[in-house]
Amino acid sequence: MTAVELSASVAGAAYIVAALLFIMSLSGLSRHESSKAGVTYGIFGMAIALAATIWATVQDAWGQPQAALGLTLLVVAMVIGATIGLWRARKVEMTGMPELIALLHSFVGLAAVLVGWNGHLHSPGLEGALADIHHAEVFIGIFIGGVTFTGSIVAFLKLSARISSQPLVLPGKNILNLGAIVVFLGLTVWFVIDQQLWLLVAVTVLSFLLGWHLVASIGGGDMPVVVSMLNSYSGWAAAAAGFLLNNDLLIVTGALVGSSGAFLSYIMCKAMNRSFLSVIAGGFGIEAPKGDDVDHGEHREIDAESAADMLANATSVVITPGYGMAVAQAQYPVAELTQKLRDRGVDVRFGIHPVAGRLPGHMNVLLAEAKVPYDIVLEMDEINDELAETDVVLVIGANDTVNPAAAEDPGSPIAGMPVLRVWEAKNVIVFKRSMASGYAGVQNPLFFRENAQMLFGDAKERVDDILTALHATAPTH
Ligand code: TAP
Repeated sequence: MTAVELSASVAGAAYIVAALLFIMSLSGLSRHESSKAGVTYGIFGMAIALAATIWATVQDAWGQPQAALGLTLLVVAMVIGATIGLWRARKVEMTGMPELIALLHSFVGLAAVLVGWNGHLHSPGLEGALADIHHAEVFIGIFIGGVTFTGSIVAFLKLSARISSQPLVLPGKNILNLGAIVVFLGLTVWFVIDQQLWLLVAVTVLSFLLGWHLVASIGGGDMPVVVSMLNSYSGWAAAAAGFLLNNDLLIVTGALVGSSGAFLSYIMCKAMNRSFLSVIAGGFGIEAPKGDDVDHGEHREIDAESAADMLANATSVVITPGYGMAVAQAQYPVAELTQKLRDRGVDVRFGIHPVAGRLPGHMNVLLAEAKVPYDIVLEMDEINDELAETDVVLVIGANDTVNPAAAEDPGSPIAGMPVLRVWEAKNVIVFKRSMASGYAGVQNPLFFRENAQMLFGDAKERVDDILTALHATAPTH
């Protein structure tokens, strides 16, 4: 066996181990209890994959004139990537994770576009059917990469509120999207027959425009699905790059990311009562939302002392946290309040909406961080039917996920999205700073219901105030 063959088999074996570790990582991440182990498997898998890639590159390049240049580029790229990665990961707030993820997806998309171009410019000199397959891979890789690139940039801009989260509604937008797909298919066939450079330029521009339009057409409430859908696209873009680079690990990893992202998008669509196809096709069939100019009447306010009193006299309490709890970092006093109430014999549980916060599992991570026991943290479907029997619901920084308009107003932009039916409880206390709307930009009639009271201010400060007030009250149970 020559040195080059040996290095290829060592790298191949390492890639299989890395791929297995990635699968174990995904399976570990699917449950709270095993999630830490899942992250560890992922880190080891990635370390092995990187080491094997560097090893294979060094072995391949050894003794060749361009070896030093190739290696230098590899090291420089890794140092720049690792520095930016470490800097961003240390700085990013949990609430900023979705936009960071969207930005990272855009890099994967751009990388796939560049790999595609490179695959054409440095064509391996194949013939016959193999050459046709190669040309199709180049074209499809660039297309998926381009859609992922600009789509992720729009998602980043929307999630970080740099542009409006309202859906862009161009006349005939569905025809535009379908037309772009048909043109892409036509150009692919043309490119396989005749590899003109302008065709590559055309598919690159087409994919950039389509990616931009697809995500711009999707409204705020559906953005969680978009992030996971782009995650899926970035996986397929990586898999396409893997075919071009003849790298098995990239193909396996890309397929894992692509299929798990698609599955997550499907689960989220089901949870939000959205059609999967309509969301991936850029809000296909979703009408522009109507403005909400209904007069909901007056809201009522409560102070921390009265809230503490109500809680101390309750038998059952359900806490429904949302994005505002993450912003205020109120999970620690919330955990302390939970403990205090449980010590007094109050039955306290949490109701978690599947898209509460800004990324899947956001609330679960925060509550786990604050050491809230897993067994009292329930999913929306597990708690919804029990809310009518609940004495007090504390809505802590949640808004869209507890909006009765979703269930009762067919004209609402979030109509049909399942929500936590907190308004059925005997009393609801809503913690927020103002009467402002939530992420989807829709007014919330809950705030004006007879059994609801607003506790204004930063969620952490108000929960701290309740704790102080509770301290002063003797247990009643
Ligand atoms: P939102 O509807 O976003 O509402 C959060 C509320 O928190 C706001 O109304 C805000 O009101 C309040 N708030 C902000 N800072 C606060 C603070 N320091 N103290 C107290 N309150 C504070 O939250 P949600 O119910 O969790 O719903 C999530 C929304 O995000 C959904 O529309 C969902 O589709 C979308 N989304 C979700 C994801 C995922 S995957 N989970 C990803 C992207 C988007 P004030 O400004 O008046 O305080």
